[in-house]
Formats: sequence, C-alpha cells, structure tokens
Amino acid sequence: MNASLSNPFSSLKITQIVLCFSPEIDQRVSVRLRSSRFSDPGVLQLDLDPSPASSKKRTPQNLDHCFSSSISVFSERTNFKVTNLPINFAILAFHSLLITLILSNSIPLFSPGLATRTIMDRFTSSPRLMIVSDLDHTMVDHHDPDNLSILRFNALWEAKYRHDSLLVFSTGRSPTLYKQLRKEKPMLTPDITIMSVGTEITYGNNMVPDEGWVEVLNQKWDKQIVSEETSKFSELTMQPETEQRQHKASFFVKKEKAQEVMKTLSERLVNRGLDVKIIYSGGLDLDILPQGAGKGQALAYLHKKLKGEGKLPQNTLACGDSGNDAELFTIPDVYGVMVNNAQEELLQWHAENAKNNPKIIHANERCAGGIIEAIGHFKLGTNVSSRDVTDLSDAKLDHFDPVYEVVKVYLFFERWRRAEVENADVYLNNLKSVCSASGVFVHPTGVEQYLHDYIDKLKHCCGDKKGKQYRVWVDQVFSSQIDSDTWLVKFKKWEQTGEEQQGSLTSVVVSSKGVKPTDGLTWIHVHQTWIDGTTQNTHNDWFL
Ligand code: GLC
Ligand code: MG
Repeated sequence: MNASLSNPFSSLKITQIVLCFSPEIDQRVSVRLRSSRFSDPGVLQLDLDPSPASSKKRTPQNLDHCFSSSISVFSERTNFKVTNLPINFAILAFHSLLITLILSNSIPLFSPGLATRTIMDRFTSSPRLMIVSDLDHTMVDHHDPDNLSILRFNALWEAKYRHDSLLVFSTGRSPTLYKQLRKEKPMLTPDITIMSVGTEITYGNNMVPDEGWVEVLNQKWDKQIVSEETSKFSELTMQPETEQRQHKASFFVKKEKAQEVMKTLSERLVNRGLDVKIIYSGGLDLDILPQGAGKGQALAYLHKKLKGEGKLPQNTLACGDSGNDAELFTIPDVYGVMVNNAQEELLQWHAENAKNNPKIIHANERCAGGIIEAIGHFKLGTNVSSRDVTDLSDAKLDHFDPVYEVVKVYLFFERWRRAEVENADVYLNNLKSVCSASGVFVHPTGVEQYLHDYIDKLKHCCGDKKGKQYRVWVDQVFSSQIDSDTWLVKFKKWEQTGEEQQGSLTSVVVSSKGVKPTDGLTWIHVHQTWIDGTTQNTHNDWFL
C-alpha cells in the first residue's frame, strides 16, 4: 500500500511511505520511507517486540496495536508488499517508527527543546518571557519540606510558558553544588544556567559553557593576588574547595565584620592592580569576583547576545532574595521581584537604591510563590498554576492543548497516589475514556501493555503514597503536531519520594480524532525510558 502523508518535519522530506507485511513471519512489519534523508533504498524495518501480554495474533487487520522497539535498515527483497492495509494502521506504524527513532536518538528528526543543538534554536523570534531566578530561598524554599511553591511554579511554567519562554537559573552555587541541589529538590531543567555568582554561563541540558564569557572575565583578574591578600584577614574563613572557582573566591565572614573587611580588602586589591567586585550575601557569604562578573553583568551579557540574534525577550523578570541578586534589578528594562523572605542586605540595597522604581516589588509570598505573584502583578501572562485548581476535571478548554493535557494527567496521578482524589471510580473511568482501546504503554523497563489494562492496574496504587512526601512533576514538555489531528508530546516525568528522585524520558501520542476539545485528547501511545543517573531500584513503584 502506498500512502502519502503530509510531512510535518522540515528536516525529513518523506515522499512516499510503503507498508510491508510478511505473512509468514508475523513479527515483521516494515515501513519504507522514501525520503531526502535516507539513502535509497531507504527501507526502515520495524521489528515488533514479542507480543504485548494481551495481544492477539498479529494479522494485517489487527496490527494497529503493534509497536516496535527496534529498528534496522533492511534490504528490499525480504519484504512482501501487501495491499488493503487500513490507513489508520499506516499512521500508527508511522508514529511508532517516529517514536522509536526519536527515543533511540538514532535520527534527530525533531527535538523541540530537549536536544536542540544550541538552546536558541527552538526560538524563531523573541521569547515571550525570560525568567532569571536565583535558586536558594528564591526558586527553592528550604523551609518547606512539601516544596509546594516550586511545584506550583513548575506546573505553571510547563503548561503555559515552556514552549515560547526562557527559563534561566542564576545561582551562587558552583556546578557541583548546583547539581546536588537538583537531586534534592523538584527542579525544572532551565534553558540557561548561570552559576558561581554570574561567573559561569552554560546552555541547555548538556550545560555547554559560554567561552566568550570566560574571556570577558579574564580582564584585570588574578586569582593568586586575591588569595595572597585575603589570607591576611583573620576574619575570613575559606568556603569549601568546590566553591572556589576560576573567577570566584569565596569566604564566610560574620555580619558585624563584613562592611569593614570589604572596604579594606577592596582598597588593597585596587592597590595591587585588580578591578574586583566584592559581594556579601545571606548575612554570611563573601564573594570576590572580577569587576565585569556578577549575576547582573551575566544577565546583561545574555541580553546583548540574544539581541544580536534578534531574540531579545519581550519581558524579563529577575527574582532574588539576597545580596548577590541586587545587580539583577539594575539591568535596564528588567522587572524584579524580591521574594517575601528576602534578606536584610537586599531590602536595604533596595531602600537605598531603587525605592521608587515601580518595576521592582517586594512580594507578599515566599520563594517561588513570590515569582508567581510577580508574573501577575506585572501582567506578564497568566499566573494560574494547575496545581491551584482543585478539581482538574472541571478545567475544560475550548481548544486542544496537548501540553496542558500532560500536565493535568500527571497532577491527577500524584493526587491519586497521595489519596487526594475523590470519586476514584469516576476518575478511573474518565481516564479510560480518554485512552484508545488499542493504545499501548511501554514501561521504562520495556514491558508493553494496553493502556486500558494498565489503567485497571492503577486501582492498586490508589492512595499508596498517602502521608508520604511523594511528588510528581513534568519537565521540558514540548509538543509537536505530527499531522492534522495528532500530536507527539515529549517530556521528562519526575517522581520524588522523600529523598529519592526518579525520572523517565516520556513520549506520548495524542489524537483529536472524533473528540471535542472539552472531552480532551485521546492518548494512543505512551513510551518511557529511564533517565540516566536517576535511581532505578524501585521499578515496581513506577506506574506511568
Ligand atoms: C552559594 C555559593 C557560595 C556563595 C553564595 C553567595 O551559596 O555556594 O559560594 O558565596 O552562594 O553568593
Ligand atoms: Mg538566594
């Protein structure tokens, strides 16, 4: 059968799809793609997994539940051409092929965000909003064991901003301590990470360093001289080795000594020919950086760079709580929020330098709650997080929104396991009604099952996390329309129970065929693989 499908991927021009079925070997289906990317004969073979638990024998008519897990290039002669395969099988096989290719990373067909070569690739024009947020006591509330405010922010960001906005974390932490924090707290993956008080800028998931920024910081900087001069102060205690960086020397100093030490040290370093910046934060930390460094300068540098590419964000919101965040609020055209729990030194800086600036507020809410508050205050976009909606089944949309669908389902899922869902049976039936009867779920362990069978199983985990610190959040949710009524949504799904975090890279195919926006989209395929480096010793505990 020949089926011509419109090709949604600009990088892959599919000119013809040929489906082949070998009656003798009922495990083999192949999809031949004639395309500009694959050299002829360009046959991609889908080798079907051993049958899913409840599958029937495969025939051309009931193949639509078959999804592949491996791929190989095959020669033409092994395939038999058959006619009369249903078109929906052609489409499903095509999706299956795409998912396999994408998950196996064998061909970067498209990867909006998760694997873009440079982080700005996914923007064709200016990002709508750029949030530049400090982490400790700003995005992350260390006094809230439930992590509620950051989780509220996460749901808001993923559902409403991720696709067209930029998330930047700007922390005093070194890469070592930053990575440690990510393992402890339910944090999203930022587009850009600024670490070590604006002295290290990295891009994307692979944290590719900005070499240009390193060059800028080398000016009038000599770490050896800084060490020599600081060693003469008995009031200064060195911070751990991990926090001493190429362009940052860090110490602890008591509040009452700070001002005096900073003044004298600054004079001595000037006398030695250096041009440095000394910053006091959190009533304890003292950082010495090159004059051109700091969180504010790093932001200014990014703005300039983005402007050069024609991608200057329409709005930027800076968020902080302590001394090293003050400079963020001095960058032109930036909105600023000092979270409610801001440190004395930041509030004092504000009182002395920016009291009448209407673009900077001191929020009523703590930490990420203050960020959400500021989005609303400055009218930067919607600031209603799905986490604040108690009955999500009431939150109907007037248009199809695959990303929102994903955020909602995983919120439901968390509530389900925490025993926070009322009318459990109604909920399960609803969930079933939005899953295709032939839809399959591929668990990260590789086990395949029908979505419907799987939902029946969910009964057993209802409330199993009651009273535990159990949370679910989705990260980097990107959706792409792959034909007129189908979307592929790709994201990281994370779970945390107490101290332990676990994550899977997830692909979901949803369809709007035959449903109204208010019914929600139909889930036709879910495929997960473990994210490297996350704990994987609780396979039995991972449901969706
Ligand atoms: C982080 C860093 C520390 C720095 C402090 C204030 O805690 O780990 O080195 O002094 O931020 O900037
Ligand atoms: Mg902070």
